[in-house]
Amino acid sequence: MSKKYTIGVIKGDGIGPEIVDEAIKVLDAVAVVEDIIFDYKEMLMGGVAIDETGVPLPDETISGVKLCDAVLFGAIGGSKWDSLERHLRPESGLLALRKEMGTFANLRPAIVYDELINASTLKPEVLSGVDIMVVRELTGGIYFGQPREQLKDRAYNTMVYTREEVLRIAKVAFEIAMKRGKRICSVDKANVLEVSQFWRDIVEEVASDYPEVELSHMYVDNVAMQLIRDPRQFDVILTGNIFGDILSDAASMLSGSIGLLPSASTGKGVGLFEPIHGSAPDIAGQGIANPIATISSAAMMLKYALGEESAAGRIDNAIKQTLAEGYRTGDIGAYDAREVCATDEIGSIIADYASRE
Ligand code: IPM
Ligand code: MN
Repeated sequence: MSKKYTIGVIKGDGIGPEIVDEAIKVLDAVAVVEDIIFDYKEMLMGGVAIDETGVPLPDETISGVKLCDAVLFGAIGGSKWDSLERHLRPESGLLALRKEMGTFANLRPAIVYDELINASTLKPEVLSGVDIMVVRELTGGIYFGQPREQLKDRAYNTMVYTREEVLRIAKVAFEIAMKRGKRICSVDKANVLEVSQFWRDIVEEVASDYPEVELSHMYVDNVAMQLIRDPRQFDVILTGNIFGDILSDAASMLSGSIGLLPSASTGKGVGLFEPIHGSAPDIAGQGIANPIATISSAAMMLKYALGEESAAGRIDNAIKQTLAEGYRTGDIGAYDAREVCATDEIGSIIADYASRE
C-alpha cells in the first residue's frame, strides 16, 4: 500500500510559482520510486491573495493548512503591493500564517556544496566543509511584539520574549545539536538589550540539561563578522527572530547564492517549508530563477514533517549530482558550469537523478 500525504501548496508571487512547480516535479519523481502518493492542495497567500480576495491571508488558507501533512511555500511580495497598509501587505500574510501554524522553530541550514566552492565571494579555503544550522525563533521577538505603532513624529516596535518562547526554541536547538557537532552558539545583544540578557539566562538554564553540548554566547555584531571571517567555527547558531533573519541571509552567501538554501519551519503541528529567499520580482516569469532552494526545502519537508528519510536523501543526492555534473542556473552560472539551464530544465535534471534506482 502506498503511503499518502496531503501537501498544502502556496506558490505566492514573483518567482514563487516557477520554483514551486519544479519542487513538485521532483516530489512526483521520488513518489514513483518510493511508492508515495502526494495529494496537493493549492492555497493562496501574499500578493496573489490580495488581488483575488482582498487580503494577504484568506481564512480558507488558514483552515486549509491545518488539514495538511505539511505545507510547501514559494515566496511572496512585490512592489505592486508595497504601498498598501502594513496589515494588508503580502509579508503580513506570511507572518500571520507562521503565527497561525505555530511554526516557532525555523531551521536554516547553510552548507557549501563543494562543486560551488568558487561561487562564493569568499576564498575556498575559508569555506570548504562549512555546515551550519541556523535555528531562528520565528513567531516572537520584535516582529510580533506589542506595542507597535507608526505616528507622525515617532514610531516604535517592541522586542519581547517570554520564558516559554525562549525555552522551547532553545530545546529545539539543543536537540538538533545533539544530532550534529554538539556545539551551539547562542546569538544576542546582551550588552545592550534586557530582552537579550533574559534570552541568554534561559538558554543557560536549558544547557544544564544537555551537558554534552558545548554552549557559547556571542553578540550579533560579532557573529556577522565571524561568519565572514571563519564560518567553520559554527555548528548550530541559535537566535531570535530578527537576528536570525539577518544572519541567515549573510550565511547564505557562504554557499554562493541565496537561491540554494532551504528552510523548515516547525513547531506545534503542521510544518511550513520554504526557500529563504524572496519573490525576486525582477526576474519573475523569465525562467531563470534557481529552484534548488525550494527543491531542497521539499527534501526538508520529507525528512522533518513526513519522516521519509530515503526520499529526502534521494533529492539531496540528486541536487549534489546535478551540480557535480556542471548543470547550473544563471545565478551560479559563472562557476565551473558545463551548461547554464533554465528553471524548468534544472528541475527536470534533478527529478531525473532523484528517480534513478
Ligand atoms: C524571511 C523573509 C521574511 C522574514 C519576510 C518576507 C517577512 O525575509 O523569511 O527571511 O523577515 O521573516
Ligand atoms: Mn529574510
